[in-house]
Amino acid sequence: MDRYCVVGNPIKHSLSPLIQNHFAKETNQELVYDKQLVEMDRFEGSILDLFKQGYKGCNVTVPFKEQAFAMCHELTERAKLAQSVNTLKYDAGKIFGDNTDGAGLVKDLTLGYNINLNNISILIIGAGGAAKGIVGSLLKENPSKLVIANRTYEKAEKLAHHFAHLGNVASCSIDHINDHYDLVINATSSSLKGELPLKDLSFIDQNTASYDLMYSSKPTIFMEEARKQGAKAMDGLGMLVEQAAESFKFWRGIEPSTLDLTLKIRQGL
Ligand code: ATR
Repeated sequence: MDRYCVVGNPIKHSLSPLIQNHFAKETNQELVYDKQLVEMDRFEGSILDLFKQGYKGCNVTVPFKEQAFAMCHELTERAKLAQSVNTLKYDAGKIFGDNTDGAGLVKDLTLGYNINLNNISILIIGAGGAAKGIVGSLLKENPSKLVIANRTYEKAEKLAHHFAHLGNVASCSIDHINDHYDLVINATSSSLKGELPLKDLSFIDQNTASYDLMYSSKPTIFMEEARKQGAKAMDGLGMLVEQAAESFKFWRGIEPSTLDLTLKIRQGL
């Protein structure tokens, strides 16, 4: 039986085993998928141990995606752009890396929520690893503009510069968001702490689609506030399912169906 897992720290609440084992069953693939807690200072050694034990691949989550990127022998274009890896594959002694986060988000927005990203304006709040993982895929959909705002402005500026060759991307100060955007994405880790990424959300209104990359069993504070402004608010569950499907395809060459899985998970599967 082929083995896969998700690695991270913390990892206890990861939904990846549930999602990946569902895909395996649905596509009749003989594999088992579990979760592995990796110690903060032992990432590379732990991954090599897992491969030695026979694991064929793993998903990588916070805070190890940059370290996963650094240990790959071969990378997909989108992983190179994101400079981080959420999917590792081990084959004939070689480590392959992909980043499926951006593609997962785009699939959820376009197929899950029917949002056409072509020619719309997008604001991303946050300029850390999560933001870096999605900017490239969003720009490939040809939005009219994509603006990155961050608490530490220099990081937003740096990120915009990194992706400038892919489309109309700019940065702005988090305290001066004056324009209206069709889509606002919270890519900060503020929701994890139950905080808003910024106090004034008055630029969000009933014509805004807002998306929090985070998922938890109840709406995040960012979603709640966006809804108070009249906006449609979405969480990151669909993205989680879609990025998992892209990882499954990277390992097994088969695209599992994601139809209804988000709904089933919300209903407790
Ligand atoms: P990740 O890999 O999850 O993106 P990260 O690289 O540490 O994690 O980045 C976290 C992001 O959330 C950053 O953009 C951070 O802003 P700074 O660059 O100024 O640190 C942002 N962030 C975290 N907590 C926040 C808060 N309470 N308010 C606003 N932004 C916050």
